[in-house]
Amino acid sequence: MKIVVTGGAGFIGSNFVQYEVNRYPEDEIINLDLLTYAGNLESVAPVADKKNYRFVRGDIADRAFVFDFFEKEKPDIVINFAAESHVDRSITDPEVFVRTNVVGTTTLLDACRTYGIKRYHQVSTDEVYGDLPLDRPDLFFTEETPLHTSSPYSSAKAAADLFVQAYHRTYGLPVTISRCSNNYGPYHFPEKLIPLVISRALNNEEVPVYGEGKNVRDWLYVTDHCSAIDLVVRKGRVGEVYNIGGHNERSNLEVVQTILRALNKPESLIHFVKDRPGHDLRYAMDPTKIETELGWKPEYTFDTGIPVTIDWYLNHRDWWEHIVSGEYQKYFEKMY
Ligand code: NAD
Ligand code: DAU
Repeated sequence: MKIVVTGGAGFIGSNFVQYEVNRYPEDEIINLDLLTYAGNLESVAPVADKKNYRFVRGDIADRAFVFDFFEKEKPDIVINFAAESHVDRSITDPEVFVRTNVVGTTTLLDACRTYGIKRYHQVSTDEVYGDLPLDRPDLFFTEETPLHTSSPYSSAKAAADLFVQAYHRTYGLPVTISRCSNNYGPYHFPEKLIPLVISRALNNEEVPVYGEGKNVRDWLYVTDHCSAIDLVVRKGRVGEVYNIGGHNERSNLEVVQTILRALNKPESLIHFVKDRPGHDLRYAMDPTKIETELGWKPEYTFDTGIPVTIDWYLNHRDWWEHIVSGEYQKYFEKMY
């Protein structure tokens, strides 16, 4: 089968490309990525020379390019990871989020219905459900929870999900959607909380914690997200949404303290800064459907995944140091 993975040079996409290329030598994996600030071909270097892998640079929101690409490649499966993914960037510059996350998705959907595909899979997020209160640990997001977004990022992701569902109902396109909680692990761009804390603490730099650090996220090791998507694409029911999460809720302060302890760094590095506008309080996924229907089980807990992640950053200093010293640094200074 010919599988197009969009956004395969980003954090989760690059982990997924490596997962698929190694696991399915009989399939052909095409990584279609624009290489924005978040795209990095070093993240797919371990599979770059494999016979069943190819990279194509292109913009999913460029209709002429996408239709030419489909005409030439005629993919069997499209898995759409490509997105603008950082909430803080969506607050300062929402427009590109509409372009890539909404227009990009509908452009792919139009190409899929024009050329025909066996499956279109949309990689979505728990953020489309909004947030849960901090004082109701009994509440979780299910697939039936109404969409109720907070940021320009989550609004654009929710709009994309609705288009995917509309193309299924109106045109009969064979689609699936997965909605996952916060990922962490190798190749995570150091603007996001966990790699930001690891990289800054290793350089003995202050670590910014928004507000009082009480907001809660539900953390999943990235390869567990990859195995879940693989299952949904190959075995999930067409037209369905599957929530993905591993019940690993931690407050941001707990996350930061855990990392500082593991690195033997002092808590005096913690610097409480102005809160994110509209900051979602708590995310927590109920993954019962994917567990019972598809037999998915995560391999890592937060306590086992964090040491593995820290080791990866210690052993791959080159990967993140050149990001931190480049364009990202200018962005970081503008934000803080
Ligand atoms: P990322 O920002 O690390 O990577 C995004 C990739 O998309 C980059 O390689 C970038 O170059 C590419 N891209 C951006 N615009 C493009 C365009 N117009 N055309 C083609 N490629 C383009 O993102 P990520 O954290 O790996 O997230 C991947 C997907 O998973 C996103 O759809 C995101 O909404 C979703 N998601 C992320 C998380 C998380 O915790 N990071 C959790 C749940 C869902
Ligand atoms: O829940 C899934 C989402 O997780 C994905 O859809 C997004 O693409 C992904 O970026 C992530 O969004 P978050 O906003 O939760 O991740 P981020 O790493 O930006 O922030 C995690 C938490 O840490 C959040 O509550 C904000 C806080 N934070 C973040 C940064 C960057 C800080 O306190 N300090 C920081 O410097």
